Amino acid sequence: MGRAGERIGLCNVQRRRLSRPPRAGSNIAFIKYWGVADPRLNIPLNNSISMTLGALHTTTTVEWDVAGRLSADEITIDGERAAGPKAERVICHLDLIRHLAGDRRFRACVVSRNNFPMASGIASSASAFAALTVAACTAIGLSLDRTRLSAIARRGSGSASRSIFGGYVEWERGNDDATSVARQLFPAEHWALRDVVAVISTAEKAVSSQNGHALALTSPFNAARVDAVYTMLQEVRNAIALRELERLGPLIEQDALAMHAVMMTSRPSLLYWQPGTLEVLHAVRRWREEDGLPVYFTIDAGPNVHLLCEPAFERELLRRLQTLSSVRTVITSGPGGDAEVIDQHLF
Ligand code: DP6
Repeated sequence: MGRAGERIGLCNVQRRRLSRPPRAGSNIAFIKYWGVADPRLNIPLNNSISMTLGALHTTTTVEWDVAGRLSADEITIDGERAAGPKAERVICHLDLIRHLAGDRRFRACVVSRNNFPMASGIASSASAFAALTVAACTAIGLSLDRTRLSAIARRGSGSASRSIFGGYVEWERGNDDATSVARQLFPAEHWALRDVVAVISTAEKAVSSQNGHALALTSPFNAARVDAVYTMLQEVRNAIALRELERLGPLIEQDALAMHAVMMTSRPSLLYWQPGTLEVLHAVRRWREEDGLPVYFTIDAGPNVHLLCEPAFERELLRRLQTLSSVRTVITSGPGGDAEVIDQHLF
C-alpha cells in the first residue's frame, strides 16, 4: 500500500514554474554605482543612471520543486553546474524569495544562460539577478510590480535593480529596502544610442564588483566622487531628455574615470585596466579631437571599454576599432526593453 502510494506520488510530481521564462538585458551605467552604504541591503552611496542593453541578455528558468524531490537547490549557468561562491550567491537570493513567499520548504532548479561572456566587465550580474528575480518570484506565486521586483533584484546585485526596467533607468539610492529602487526615465524608443563594447579580455576578473564595493570607502577620493555625482545627475537626465551626446559624453567619461580613481586608490588598490584599455581610451580621444568622431567611453569593473555613439557613426567606429591590436572582438547593442517573459524554456 505504502509502495503504491509512493508510486502515485511519483506519477503526480508537481512542478511550479512560469509558463514562459524571463529574459533580462544587461545595462551600462552612465553614472556608476560604486560603494555601498549598507552591504546587507545593497544600499548604494549614490544614485546611478544606466541604459539597459537589448542585445546582451540572460534567460533564466526556475522550477520550484513542490514535490520535494530535491534536497538542495540545483543551479546551472551557461551549461555548467554552479558551485562555491557563485552558487551560494544564487541560493542566498532564492532564500530571500522563499522568505518573502512565506514558504521555506521548496528547493529550486535554476537554469540560466547568458548570450555574452560572464564576468568580463559586461555586467553579467545585472541581467542574471534581474532574470532570476522575475523567474523565481513569479513561479513561486508572488505577484509584484516592477518597483518591488527592482528592490528584490537589488538584494542579489545592485545593478540588477536597474535591469528590471528597459530604456534609460535611474536607481534612487534611497534609505532602506523599500526606497532603494530603480525607475525608468525614458523608454528604449526615446533614443537609439549605440553601445559598442571593445573587448580587450574575456577573462574572469580577479576582484568581483561585490568585493570591490566594500573597498570604496577606503579611498580618499570616494567622498569627492560621490559629491560630484550629485551635481551631475540632473545634467545627465537633461542630456538624455534632449538626446544630446555631446553633453552626456563628457559627464559619463568623468564619472567612469572618477570611479576608477577610487578603485585604484582604495586599500588594497584595484587596477582593472589592461594596456589595451588605455590604447582604446587614447584612440577614442584622438578620433574625437582630430577627426570630429563623436564617440565617448565608459568602463565598468573590468578592462573592456564601452563606446557610446549615435547609430550614424557606428560603422566608422567599428572600422577604426579593427585597426587597434588589443581589441579582440566587438559587441554592439542598442537600448532594450523591460525584463520580459519569452517563449522558450531552458529545460
Ligand atoms: C562598475 O551591481 O555588479 O558595473 O551589487 O555586488 O552585484 P553587486 O555589484 P554590481 O556593481 C556594478 C558596478 C559597475 C557600475 C554600475 O554598473 O553601476
